[in-house]
Amino acid sequence: MATNNAPALGFHSKIERNVTLLLVLSLLVVTIGGIVEIAPLFWLQNTIEKVTGMRPYSPLELAGRNIYIREGCYVCHSQMIRPFRDEVERYGHYSLAAESMFDHPFQWGSKRTGPDLARVGGKYSNDWHVQHLTNPRDVVPESIMPPYAFLAKNEIDPSTIAAHLKTLTVVGVPYTQEDIDNAAADMAAQANPDADSTGLMARYPKANVGAFDGNPAKLTEMDALVAYLQVLGTLVDFSAYKPEENER
Ligand code: HEC
Repeated sequence: MATNNAPALGFHSKIERNVTLLLVLSLLVVTIGGIVEIAPLFWLQNTIEKVTGMRPYSPLELAGRNIYIREGCYVCHSQMIRPFRDEVERYGHYSLAAESMFDHPFQWGSKRTGPDLARVGGKYSNDWHVQHLTNPRDVVPESIMPPYAFLAKNEIDPSTIAAHLKTLTVVGVPYTQEDIDNAAADMAAQANPDADSTGLMARYPKANVGAFDGNPAKLTEMDALVAYLQVLGTLVDFSAYKPEENER
């Protein structure tokens, strides 16, 4: 057929026959769309929900988080419970943006070879975690998770943690000068049930104090990692959280 419907397309036929014009205009459309979707998030107050209980990590938890990242735990574990019924029934309340607001970088992840860990805090005892990390097969016979027994042998030097707290203030984590000055002492106090932890508990409410790896005399990477796992998902007070107040 000789019918040419180009006139009906008008200007569009020009766009479709000119690759450069098509590319430029496509980019323009995508840019406008992107700006309209993303830009308001920088100004909206409710991008991060108002919650009670959220606080920055204690120095020991923060050291544990560094080990979690160093060991690549995120390669097999996500830390984001999506708002779907199957996930909420298995893992608990879906994750809120506020729960990762002090995470730099966040650990949401995109791979679940193992379960999501966003609310693993308090699910098991410290002993369970130590046994599991030492050799996962001892507590979960069918587990394919690698063993991390060496963490109990690696001692942590508390002298560097203050600098890490200070660095995080640059990206907006609200550590105070007092938090930074006490960082090394707080770190040791959290892993030793006999130490005076009054200051630690005032600065970091709900912090778990304990001889995580069973030996209060030595501050190890195992102590730090277990302290970190035990705080995950436990800070927000969900009895005071009303989703409808955040939906405006
Ligand atoms: C190769 C993948 C892999 C890596 C890497 C890995 N895990 Fe796992 N993890 C698993 C699997 C699979 C399970 C489920 C079986 C089990 O409980 O051992 C699991 C289970 C867990 C659980 C129990 C979760 C629950 O709710 O029962 C914790 C806690 C955990 N892993 C922590 C870690 C930490 C911390 C690291 C890094 C030091 C790590 N995992 C690295 C695969 C992995």
